Amino acid sequence: RYRDTNAEEKMNPFAEQEAWEEHQIGKATLKYGSKNKKLASDDYQFVFEDQIDFIKASVMDGDKFDNDEMADSIEKSKAKSAAEALQEERKKLPIYTYRDELLQAVHDHQVLVIVGETGSGKTTQIPQYLHEAGYTKHGMIACTQPRRVAAMSVAARVAHELGVKLGHEVGYSIRFEDCTSDKTILKYMTDGMLLREFLGEPDLASYSVVMVDEAHERTLSTDILFALVKDISRFRPDLKLLISSATLDAEKFSDYFDSAPIFKIPGRRYPVEIHFTKAPEADYLDAAIVTALQIHVTQPPGDILIFLTGQEEIETAEEILKHRTRGLGTKIAELIICPIYANLPTELQAKIFEPTPEGARKVVLATNIAETSLTIDGIKYVIDPGFVKMKSYNPKTGMESLLVSPISKASAMQRAGRSGRTGPGKCFRLYTAYNFQNDLDDNTVPEIQRTNLTNVVLTLKSLGIHDLLHFEFMDPPPAEALLKALELLFALSALNKLGELTKVGRRMAEFPLDPMLSKMIVVSEKYKCSEDIISIAAMLSIGNSIFYRPKDKQVHADNARLNFHTGNVGDHMALLKVYNSWKETNYSTQWCYENYIQVRSMKRARDIRDQLAGLLERVEIELTTNPNDLDAIKKSITSGFFPHSSKLQKNGSYRTLKHGQTVHIHPSSGLAQVLPKWVVYHELVLTTKEYMRQITELKAEWLLEIAPHYYQLKDVEDTGSKKMPRGEGRARITDN
Ligand code: CDP
Ligand code: MG
Repeated sequence: RYRDTNAEEKMNPFAEQEAWEEHQIGKATLKYGSKNKKLASDDYQFVFEDQIDFIKASVMDGDKFDNDEMADSIEKSKAKSAAEALQEERKKLPIYTYRDELLQAVHDHQVLVIVGETGSGKTTQIPQYLHEAGYTKHGMIACTQPRRVAAMSVAARVAHELGVKLGHEVGYSIRFEDCTSDKTILKYMTDGMLLREFLGEPDLASYSVVMVDEAHERTLSTDILFALVKDISRFRPDLKLLISSATLDAEKFSDYFDSAPIFKIPGRRYPVEIHFTKAPEADYLDAAIVTALQIHVTQPPGDILIFLTGQEEIETAEEILKHRTRGLGTKIAELIICPIYANLPTELQAKIFEPTPEGARKVVLATNIAETSLTIDGIKYVIDPGFVKMKSYNPKTGMESLLVSPISKASAMQRAGRSGRTGPGKCFRLYTAYNFQNDLDDNTVPEIQRTNLTNVVLTLKSLGIHDLLHFEFMDPPPAEALLKALELLFALSALNKLGELTKVGRRMAEFPLDPMLSKMIVVSEKYKCSEDIISIAAMLSIGNSIFYRPKDKQVHADNARLNFHTGNVGDHMALLKVYNSWKETNYSTQWCYENYIQVRSMKRARDIRDQLAGLLERVEIELTTNPNDLDAIKKSITSGFFPHSSKLQKNGSYRTLKHGQTVHIHPSSGLAQVLPKWVVYHELVLTTKEYMRQITELKAEWLLEIAPHYYQLKDVEDTGSKKMPRGEGRARITDN
């Protein structure tokens, strides 16, 4: 059922054929193979190597909308000032017609479920309407988003519409980044951040309205928020609660909120022609690119939206598209490539919303964020490969992985709908009609049923919610997953035997981090190395975007990276070394360039570190550094991550101590050639194999010293497997 892109690549029988032949046609260089088809165009001819055959399958009905009226009003608004035009634009959104009715409904009911097509104006307009109606006089309006990029970009848009500076009246709050001020009245935030606000303010007294937006996404935090806001609405009759969703199955939300009324905003949608491929595609990324080019040279104007699964894939697609269009020069119209994914730097996010210049075509390469969270005007063609990166969790082993998985039918419909917002659209599905009918689930399983719950359980326990089995979940998580979370929190000493929060647990809950990281930080007090540990934690929170490897300078980049690993200190210590060296140069950008380190990531790490330092102060842990006591730092790491310990096997692979799972050292690790006997890892990533990423060597006796309740002597006893000599039996390096 699940597939992993890299593994797929290895298995792809067509991979060999990807050595393109280059041919010169007129001035345009195009690559082609055997099954060519000619596509005639006015003054040039293209030959595609691998033209894709689609079958037109169906048309999704849209409510007809008067095109001329729209064009007319666009013309009129051109004449006005930019600010006026913006206000005109607001009035053209489908929701505007229902403004007064909506305000009346909010006035009449405490809880309201709002349903409206994506792009109808729910996220950007409703908080503004409520503000205009006076709801901000006695509190802020919170609007939650499942994704950080959406929160940031929507806040920017609304600030722009209101003509205020972002962070003043309109702001956003995402983890480690608070862009709000005393003036803020409209606050866009991730659902996870609102969840954390309950810790400081259990009745959300500073808010007059809470809008849980994108409710249909059913993220873990949104599901937990449902229960919490429902609870406070009972003793805060003045608090207005809006649950907004882009899909029509709103009855479920209504039922959950004691039959709250549903306010439907009629959509303004054009028909969308759906095309399926005749046969399954072996390589969806390549198929998507070919399809985009095919659209570009054969179809009338209109932008293209391609759904991909993640940053890496998007960057690859961008590179290939650039490469393939470059050779064509002026033979084709300009193709503007706009990537959008969660970690896209803020300054590049605005680009996707810029109107496409006349004569050019925009192609947006997006993750699932463009499915409902973000609306990009002008999209006429959607390419849907049918996959999404999704978390999956095995409660038996406690292992969580991000896997590329097939989307649901509901997702496929949403994606198709993105092409019919401003005119009739076309959706090209890179899978067959048979696949759609028979292989796709109807709906996506809510995240709460396929994720690690440790963090959420710790948050709920700190909110004083003790009985989790009877907590009012909209869809309950598997009991096994709850149990696993309780067990882990007990092992980390965050809970006592009765399942009550301990002092350690209370301190851990202050940190907006995974409980294992929080534990590592809290315990650093004991080992007198809190300064060092928060640097490591901040660096780990950045993910794997610290080092970069330009294609033409890979050897230099690798050498620079290995410099930080001198003495085989392990990856955590290497991260600390990177941070401290940067700090010693007074946070020099030049130093980052010289060492192939992304300065943007480092600045973010510094920012996160500052916040962690503030939180240490809050839980009254002194800042202490112990740079020469390597063992102290490693013991702190082990105190948080001992459940992630594994032991070297004779064949060079590792086995996790607790569950006996076979795992490998990630080739990017400084210890990949060293193969220490005992290691503790930060996380597992599944690509071609289960890889441990960010590894530190540990001593087996530490496990008994630190976690005697978790490991027994037999777990750490020497069963005869010897340390591998260098270079023998080491994990094969097959992945980057
Ligand atoms: O929430 P909903 O999907 O109903 O719509 P919305 O996000 O409020 O979008 C309403 C309009 O604002 C759309 O036409 C978007 O293109 C526009 N918008 C924008 O221009 N820039 C943003 N960052 C967000 C929305
Ligand atoms: Mg929205």
